[in-house]
Amino acid sequence: MGRKKISIIGAGFVGATAAHWAAEKELGDVVVVDIIEGLPQGKALDLFEASPIEGFDARVIGTNSYEETKDSDVVIITSGVPRKPGMSREDLLDVNRKIIESVVAQVVERSPRAFLIIVTNPLDTMTYLAYKKSGFPRERVMGMAGVLDTARFRAFIAMELGVSVEDIQALLLGGHGDEMVPLPRYTTVSGIPLSQLLPREKIERLVDRTRKGGAEIVNLLKTGSAFYAPSAGAVQMAEAILKDKKRILPCCAYLQGEYGLKDICFGVPVKLGAKGVEAIIELELTEEEKALVAKSADSVKKSIAELKL
Ligand code: APR
Repeated sequence: MGRKKISIIGAGFVGATAAHWAAEKELGDVVVVDIIEGLPQGKALDLFEASPIEGFDARVIGTNSYEETKDSDVVIITSGVPRKPGMSREDLLDVNRKIIESVVAQVVERSPRAFLIIVTNPLDTMTYLAYKKSGFPRERVMGMAGVLDTARFRAFIAMELGVSVEDIQALLLGGHGDEMVPLPRYTTVSGIPLSQLLPREKIERLVDRTRKGGAEIVNLLKTGSAFYAPSAGAVQMAEAILKDKKRILPCCAYLQGEYGLKDICFGVPVKLGAKGVEAIIELELTEEEKALVAKSADSVKKSIAELKL
C-alpha cells in the first residue's frame, strides 16, 4: 500500500492550516491547489521546510493544476470566499456555488474514489451541491461543521468550568447557521451530565455563544473568518476515514429519511471510518429539541432551494 494522498482545494487560511495539521499528523502526502499563482506553491514549500524542524514526514506540494490531485484518497474543499463582519454565511451562496461546482468537477474527474470533505460556506448547501454534482454515493461526500461547532461548545464549557477540554464530550445537530442545535442533554464532563455542573441559564448562555461562535471570530478578525478550528475539524474527519477509526462525530451528511428528513445535507452524528459515513445515528429527542431541529432544517432547505438544482 502506497502513501495516502490528501488534496486540499483552496490555499487560503483554512486550506493552508488544514495542510499544516494533515502534514504534521503524517496522514499522507498533501497537495494544495489554488487559482492564485504562487500562493499554494509558496505555502506548501514553506510548510515542507518546517518538516525537518518539527520532524514530520509528508511530501507537501502546491500547484495551480489538478493533475497532482490524481487518485487522492481524501479531498478537503475550502475554496471560496469567507464572510466579513455583518455578513451571514448565506450571503456567500452565489459566489461560492460557482467555485464549488467547478472544483468538484475537476476533483471528481481525477479522483473518482475519493472522499470529499466540504468546508466552504454556506456549509450544508455547498455539501448538498458537491453531493449532487459529484455523483458520488452519500457515504463519500460530507461537510465539516459539527466538529467545529461542538469544539466551540466544548471550549466554552471548559472555560466556564475551569476544567480540561479533553474531558468534555458534546453533541449537536442541525445546519451550520445560527439555528444549529447544540444538545446539552448529550453533553458530559468525564461522563457527568452538564446539567449537574452548571445551572440552566449558564448552559443557555454557552449554547447561544456556540450558535454565534463563527460571528464572534469574524467580528474580531474583521477581514475574514475562523480557520484554526475549522481546518482542525476537517483534518479530524480525514483522519477518521484514513485510519478507519470509526469515530462518532457530528458531520453534515445527506439524509434519506433519518430524523424525518429527506434530500437535504444536515448535521447529524455519524460513524466515520474507511467507508466514509458508515452509519447515521438517530438520537432520541425531546419535543423541544425536535422543534429546534425542524427550524434549523427549514433554514437549510430554503438555502438549498436557492440552488435551483
Ligand atoms: N479553485 C481553487 N481555489 C479557489 C477558487 C477556485 N475556483 N476560488 C477561490 N479559491 C481560493 C482563493 O484564491 C483563496 O486562496 O480559495 C481560497 C480561500 O481562502 P481565504 O480567502 O483565506 O478563505 P478561508 O478563510 O480559507 O475560507 C474558505 O471556508 O470556512 C469557510 O466561509 C469560509 O467559505 C469560506 C472557506
